[in-house]
Amino acid sequence: MTNQTTTRSHASARHQTFADEVQYYLSLQPRQLPSRYLYDALGSALFEAICRLPWYRITRAETRLLAAHRRSVFDRLDPLTRLVELGPGSGEKLVTVIGPGDPGGPGNDDQSRPARLDVHLVDVSPAALAASSRSVGALDGVTVATHRASYEAGLAEAVSETQGGGRTLVLFLGSNIGNFDPPGADAFLRGIRSALDSEDACLIGADLVKDERELILAYDDPLGVTAAFNRNLLVRINRELGGDFNLDAFTHRAVWNAEQSRVEMHLVSLRRQRVRVAAAGLEFTMEKGESIWTESSYKYQPAAIVTMLEGAGFRLVEQWVDGEAGFALTLSQVT
Ligand code: TRP
Repeated sequence: MTNQTTTRSHASARHQTFADEVQYYLSLQPRQLPSRYLYDALGSALFEAICRLPWYRITRAETRLLAAHRRSVFDRLDPLTRLVELGPGSGEKLVTVIGPGDPGGPGNDDQSRPARLDVHLVDVSPAALAASSRSVGALDGVTVATHRASYEAGLAEAVSETQGGGRTLVLFLGSNIGNFDPPGADAFLRGIRSALDSEDACLIGADLVKDERELILAYDDPLGVTAAFNRNLLVRINRELGGDFNLDAFTHRAVWNAEQSRVEMHLVSLRRQRVRVAAAGLEFTMEKGESIWTESSYKYQPAAIVTMLEGAGFRLVEQWVDGEAGFALTLSQVT
């Protein structure tokens, strides 16, 4: 097969998977859509905008923690040779970890990281891979490989490609762990654990339980950027799968579910309406007020993050908490 044919058949396999998953999840009760499809080129750009919103404090809190403690991370994991970031986004956070640092900022020290590092970026979004490999690849002594794959498959590829001495650090930032339900998070962390060797490590960024108003504002901002991000999923289905979602008839809603400790994101139908998605072979009626559940974002107590990691076969190295925004960075190592 030529490269072009390979690329085309991958593209059509991805299209088929998208159609199958939309068919499956939209037929569930309550109706759902898998959140990874939020990140097409426009979705990725909207998410970058969310990270700059004053009400979405996760990214800035995490960046502060990374800048302040990167030195400790490298000291604790010496000799570190390989970094694998699952879902690198724009690559900015990884640049904070392994870049030259802010001369005036905390934790700055050029000796704080190994001179040579193999970096693997794993994402389903080509837009994210392009942006992150550009910014990370510009750093001195860094070799970058990209894996357009699910987290699990990409991690397997990344660890199989390079062998030999040194440790691997897997980074899973941005509270993306919170987008799994508890059994899903456990399975996911066990999967990471089984891809790693003893002494390898993972660094998890996770958002903490806090005031409900603050949580809702982070996921339903007054500028409507998060609403646009969520509704763009319908735009994508209309374009790629021949859907006929009427955008005017769906509104974004964020709900705090205290019992489950999660913010739920929904697209709520404003009226009774018929929906068709041609490529998914779907036609159904949505009632007024009925919703499509697109994402959950679990919020944690700091100790619960440690318990979750321990359950999956890691032991705590160190946990850093940003008290101002309520965010934790947890470094753990394979037991
Ligand atoms: N991982 C991010 C989070 O849970 C993703 C996210 C932010 C998100 N805002 C969103 C997902 C709105 C869906 C809708 O914070």
